[in-house]
Amino acid sequence: MVVHERSRSALLVAVLSVVAPVVAETKPLSIRPSQQWDGKDGPWSSFRIQVGTPPQQVRVLPAHDQSSTWLVLGQACGNDAQGCGNERGRLYSYDNSSTWQETGFYDLEPWLERQVGQDGPGYFGWDDITLGWEGDDMPTLKNQSVVGITTTDFWLGSLSLNPRPVNFTNYNNPIPSLMQNLRNRTKDPIPSLSWSYTAGAYNLAPKVYGSLVLGGYDTTHYEPNSLTFPFGGDQSFDFQVAIQSITTSLTDDSLLDSGIIAYISTLVPDIWLPASVCAKFEEAFGLTWDNETELYLMNSSLHSTLLEQDPSVRFTVGPEVSGGAVTINMPYWNFYQTAQPALTNASKPMMYFPLKRAANDTQYVLGRTFLQSAHLSADYERSTFNLSQALYPSSSTAQNIVAVLPPLQETTPGAGNPGDPGNLGTDGNSSGSNSDSSLSSGAIAGIAVGLVVLAGMIAAIAFVIYRRRKAKPKKHELEDTDVMHDPLPQEVSGEQLKVEMGGGLSHEVPGDMDPKTELAAYDHQKPVEADGNPGHIYEMQGDSGPVEMSGENTFQKVPSSYLT
Ligand SMILES: *[C@@H]1O[C@H](CO)[C@@H](O)[C@H](O)[C@H]1NC(C)=O
Ligand SMILES: *[C@@H]1O[C@H](CO)[C@@H](O)[C@H](O)[C@H]1NC(C)=O
Ligand SMILES: *[C@@H]1O[C@H](CO)[C@@H](O)[C@H](O)[C@H]1NC(C)=O
Ligand SMILES: *[C@@H]1O[C@H](CO)[C@@H](O)[C@H](O)[C@H]1NC(C)=O
Ligand SMILES: *[C@@H]1O[C@H](CO)[C@@H](O)[C@H](O)[C@H]1NC(C)=O
Ligand SMILES: *[C@@H]1O[C@H](CO)[C@@H](O)[C@H](O)[C@H]1NC(C)=O
Ligand SMILES: *[C@@H]1O[C@H](CO)[C@@H](O)[C@H](O)[C@H]1NC(C)=O
Ligand SMILES: *[C@@H]1O[C@H](CO)[C@@H](O)[C@H](O)[C@H]1NC(C)=O
Ligand SMILES: *[C@@H]1O[C@H](CO)[C@@H](O)[C@H](O)[C@H]1NC(C)=O
Ligand SMILES: *[C@@H]1O[C@H](CO)[C@@H](O)[C@H](O)[C@H]1NC(C)=O
Repeated sequence: MVVHERSRSALLVAVLSVVAPVVAETKPLSIRPSQQWDGKDGPWSSFRIQVGTPPQQVRVLPAHDQSSTWLVLGQACGNDAQGCGNERGRLYSYDNSSTWQETGFYDLEPWLERQVGQDGPGYFGWDDITLGWEGDDMPTLKNQSVVGITTTDFWLGSLSLNPRPVNFTNYNNPIPSLMQNLRNRTKDPIPSLSWSYTAGAYNLAPKVYGSLVLGGYDTTHYEPNSLTFPFGGDQSFDFQVAIQSITTSLTDDSLLDSGIIAYISTLVPDIWLPASVCAKFEEAFGLTWDNETELYLMNSSLHSTLLEQDPSVRFTVGPEVSGGAVTINMPYWNFYQTAQPALTNASKPMMYFPLKRAANDTQYVLGRTFLQSAHLSADYERSTFNLSQALYPSSSTAQNIVAVLPPLQETTPGAGNPGDPGNLGTDGNSSGSNSDSSLSSGAIAGIAVGLVVLAGMIAAIAFVIYRRRKAKPKKHELEDTDVMHDPLPQEVSGEQLKVEMGGGLSHEVPGDMDPKTELAAYDHQKPVEADGNPGHIYEMQGDSGPVEMSGENTFQKVPSSYLT
């Protein structure tokens, strides 16, 4: 009986020892807002990063579909490096960075943004990126893919959020993206290839900065809902939504006759809708299209009227044109923005309504204007995203960052394919045998939770059995116990036997069920247990299948004369 009991306890201890040492730390990263409002069509809450050696501080917007980080070059500004540089979130000078390494001139290939006329070439290369400014205590990643831009279609630089690898000219040499490199760090990796963004609100008083979290989300920035959207079939258009209805408090008529498919972009400022829908907006809001600037410019009397009416627009969006949906309510104060002279060629800034007339269904885009009222959370390991009503926490509200953990998949040892470049969820080697196990720590945390629950159940069962046995008459115990014929002692190694006996002695004392004794006795086994099991049993989910690509998703060389 003693041996039986001990083997149960041994199992419990083994399970617990798996849990304890491998819960490595993963950390979602909340990128700090620059605390400035930037852009020619916003203003927008930008985020702060540093690039190069010595570090150059720049302010950028998130780039949901880019695998490289875009930086505005001095060439974009001509003689006015000071004023223009500051307007464009500060310039990047590769000449002044000792770690810059050039690749060449390529088109930026912004597949979605190109549909609405935003495009341009870039000077590709490699340089170090720090996510934050000095004192933010954020990681620096060596040798990341960066692109110097001069196009005015993208006014600010942008931080790469797409975890898919960078491809030059062909698919033969995919290079890990910033997100993948953050995920694959040995120290404090992000928990998963996910990120969350909401643009904040400039017109609110007080203003609320945007929120950008890598590997998780900040629960203070949105109202949760239970809807999940699958990624679009084409990987250049991941954030595909069906707009089921658009209504406004100004009229009982629906602004949208039948559902349409649209795409969310963090790089497009406005909301692009069919001309017929724009016509209904014009009627309801009293808007006038300006042919020259191609904007709905607003004069101050119209703005005052609208401020008084305080209208709102409700977008009902779902994965399909009918069925489950979430409603994003957009107040008027997310609909008046400032067109800078850089956008209009006018002599002074003008107010405009950020709605655009789409020529056809490839141009239905929900840009940052929409993301002021909506919170977007992307999960590249499950190929899903969440869309929620954005909230505007006061500056005194503490962040509440929650990690998005990667999915777990049970497989037999060796069945996974960690080397598969399409498998974004993998960390490389899942059969690691030291404490730096390459199994993602997010997965480990998940396993740990499961194991703790399992361990608790085993402990409870073991305890019940133990108590029952002890309650039984001694005679029965003796009958039941034949140490000589029990196979277990012979199976364990000499060292384990010694430990078992040491721990077992006190364990046999009636009433002594102190688990600490057992744990202490088995402490030295932790590394062995820790490394073998989880890596073999659990692996990251494999690639979720072939993804359609819109043409060649590689960068094609362009002449360098395009840059000036
Ligand atoms: C490079 O750095 C030097 C010294 O810090 C500075 O004077 C110069 O303006 C910088 N060049 C550019 C292009 O930013
Ligand atoms: C930076 O990364 C690129 C692409 O992986 C590589 O070709 C280059 O040699 C690297 N440079 C350094 C200094 O590590
Ligand atoms: C680069 O090519 C790989 C296939 O090798 C593909 O999975 C990946 O999505 C491509 N990257 C981008 C940004 O399209
Ligand atoms: C999406 O929402 C679900 C809850 O509905 C949550 O479990 C999941 O982590 C969210 N995913 C992301 C990427 O935010
Ligand atoms: C303001 O704009 C509205 C609609 O665009 C127009 O009807 C009105 O005449 C304008 N008012 C002034 C003072 O320009
Ligand atoms: C604006 O453009 C449309 C079509 O391009 C044209 O019919 C209209 O007359 C123009 N309006 C003005 C005020 O130029
Ligand atoms: C502003 O001027 C530039 C250069 O002259 C021109 O390319 C652009 O189309 C103009 N933009 C508008 C909105 O008129
Ligand atoms: C959609 O409209 C844009 C802008 O006019 C045009 O460039 C594009 O070719 C059109 N696409 C299709 C599929 O008609
Ligand atoms: C992760 O990092 C390790 C070591 O730095 C490297 O060998 C491995 O290829 C990386 N995996 C990916 C998917 O980048
Ligand atoms: C995985 O680990 C094993 C044993 O540590 C090693 O032999 C193998 O090369 C590693 N594979 C990769 C892809 O790192």
